[in-house]
Amino acid sequence: MPYSATETTPGLRPLPAGWVLRQRQPEDLPGIVQLMEKVYVAPHGPEAVWPEEVLREHCRHFPEGQFTIVDDGGRVVADATSMMVASAKALAPHRWSGLTGNGSLAPHEPEGDAFYGVDIAVDPDRRGLGLARHLYAARMALARNRGCRRFVAGARIPGYHLATDLLAPDVYLKLVERKVIHDPTLSVQLKLGFSLRGMLPDYIADPESRDCAALIVMEF
Ligand SMILES: CC(C)(COP(=O)(O)OP(=O)(O)OC[C@H]1O[C@@H](n2cnc3c(N)ncnc32)[C@H](O)[C@@H]1OP(=O)(O)O)[C@@H](O)C(=O)NCCC(=O)NCCS
Repeated sequence: MPYSATETTPGLRPLPAGWVLRQRQPEDLPGIVQLMEKVYVAPHGPEAVWPEEVLREHCRHFPEGQFTIVDDGGRVVADATSMMVASAKALAPHRWSGLTGNGSLAPHEPEGDAFYGVDIAVDPDRRGLGLARHLYAARMALARNRGCRRFVAGARIPGYHLATDLLAPDVYLKLVERKVIHDPTLSVQLKLGFSLRGMLPDYIADPESRDCAALIVMEF
């Protein structure tokens, strides 16, 4: 069933004609793996790309929480993976693998009061079209519908490796927050309305981010 984020989010640019945002479907899985392979290239290891079986597992634990955008030719151009969990866990210092069950979403808590962003990936050839904005709008509509009080995520800081010799990671985060530095991922998420809540050291193996992430939160 296609989901219209423009109906719930005034001002959102419509998707291009024929493109559809929908709950992840079984036929989308090969395209999602190809998307991940294109997005998470070296220096990411192959473990950054989920095999189809893991994507199927996500749909078993929380089918409504997995969103995909396909273009007018049926190609997957963007995908977002989410789960729900108690705020006490999401807001506490954590590692991506611990909170998400190594990416399986097995720890998903249907009664959790925090909606948690596990991953979002947009085809590098389709960036800047508002696809992430659409995916976040769909996720937030679902989160509110489920009674969540906040949206929490660990945001990658892929620009940090360029500044490692000059700045400690917490200083880098503050400078991105103050718009002194543009980070390809964190700056976009702050623009989408998230607030910086803290730093998550050793969050995930991510050479560009030096394994660090920003704890970002949007209160509802
Ligand atoms: C981060 C990512 C999901 C953004 O996807 P996207 O579809 O290009 O983002 P959108 O087009 O919806 O842009 C959202 C907002 O950020 C702004 N933005 C996006 N890219 C930008 C850039 N490179 N420079 C400045 N602003 C940018 C947009 O202008 C937009 O704001 P607006 O609607 O007010 O104009 C995408 O770059 C990506 O897949 N990155 C790699 C994977 C990743 O790091 N995922 C995050 C895991 S934590």
